[in-house]
Amino acid sequence: MKILLASAEIAPIARVGGMAEAVAGLVKQLRQNNIDVSVVLPDYGGVELTNEVVSELPMPAWASPGSVRSGEVEGVGAIHLIDVPWIEKAHPYNDANGVAFEDNDLRFLGFSAAVAALTVKESPDVLHLNDWHTAATLGFLNEPPPSVLSIHNLGYQGIANPGWLDEITNRPHYFAWHNTINPLLGGLRLADRVVTVSPNYSKEILSEEDGMGLHEYLIDLGDRLVGIVNGIDTAEWNPHTDSFLEKKFSIKNKAGKSANKKKLLTEFGLDHDSSVPVIGMVSRLVEQKGIDLITELARFIPNLPAKLVILGSGDIRLVNEIQQQVAQNHEHISFRNDYDLKLGHQVFAGSDLLLMPSRFEPCGLAQMQAMAYGTIPVTTNVGGLADTVIDADLFPETGNGFVSQSIDSIGLLDALYRATRAWRNRSQRAAIQRRGMETDWSWTEPAKQYLQLYNELATNSDR
Ligand code: GLC
Repeated sequence: MKILLASAEIAPIARVGGMAEAVAGLVKQLRQNNIDVSVVLPDYGGVELTNEVVSELPMPAWASPGSVRSGEVEGVGAIHLIDVPWIEKAHPYNDANGVAFEDNDLRFLGFSAAVAALTVKESPDVLHLNDWHTAATLGFLNEPPPSVLSIHNLGYQGIANPGWLDEITNRPHYFAWHNTINPLLGGLRLADRVVTVSPNYSKEILSEEDGMGLHEYLIDLGDRLVGIVNGIDTAEWNPHTDSFLEKKFSIKNKAGKSANKKKLLTEFGLDHDSSVPVIGMVSRLVEQKGIDLITELARFIPNLPAKLVILGSGDIRLVNEIQQQVAQNHEHISFRNDYDLKLGHQVFAGSDLLLMPSRFEPCGLAQMQAMAYGTIPVTTNVGGLADTVIDADLFPETGNGFVSQSIDSIGLLDALYRATRAWRNRSQRAAIQRRGMETDWSWTEPAKQYLQLYNELATNSDR
């Protein structure tokens, strides 16, 4: 079975959000199952390939010239890097101030046209697309192979100038939407299967409230729409082997966790007090992640009592709001405006609780990464969070975290209060941690489900 998987991101070479981790994790697991997967990514520049072969791609005039560098790259394996006009930039989407490039529609439509040309050349058994950046590929193909489109986030659809419509060569009408062109919409109408990154999210998006304007089309998909929960890379996210940690630890010997807590507090300039839990946050700072709720909650942190450390970068307005809270509360809250992989590992390892107040969350990886490190998640009850976090007060026998039933600061404060109370009770804390650490969060099971899907599509002529 030969799979061609196209994405705008893959860890470690182009990493912006969770999609980079998810795509990398799936590809790695599929290869371990001896599946022939090659990845297609834009050539953002600066990536060296071994065994490099360069070929021209037949492209529509507006996206010419297009070419592809094929070879292998360390940490990823077999890859095709596509060069089309304006694709090569220092960041996949944004300038240095975090503002989206104006020509992103052109860049990724061009990329999609090139992925289509490569698909013709490679003739894979299944073409696997990810999010809006690659969704338009299906519009450029006359006879597409069996196809899967993963939705990592319905909030981004790649809405473009309608002037491009006729360029989506043979199937423009699938992409037309309220006098714009909508790559994600066209992709989901043309794909044989649409996969959301958790089962719960595949149901949520059928409602007008969560469907981001597309719920009617999503309902129309019927059983072509499925949910498969993401995994995490358990080789990278393993506290027993993690070289970023101050001290390694494991489910059998959690003693090392306290050394990591001490180090984390020092790193964030907070006083150490082992009787008080540390609440960690590692997040992109965008509306979706409920950052505004944190700023409402912040003044209650001293009364819990707890310390809060936040690591993340993103929206300048949200950065400013957090900084204001820190200024008023610097003994209890500390913030690092950064996207730092090593520090991220240290926050998961050194925190007692992880706060994840997402307004919506297609899957979410941080809650699983936290649980693997014995850090108890406190989350909202949305998307993939609802599929992975079980409230330990509602379900004392199976609970692995604490879940707010409402998306507001009162519900979250209640969940945080319940979490700090459980944390102070040593045996309850240990039981909750153990369940999180014992669960298999790896890609083994999710990859099996993707494989089953690929097999169904590849062997079914009337897919
Ligand atoms: C996006 C979603 C997140 C998901 C990730 C990987 O970043 O917002 O919920 O975990 O993609 O699929």
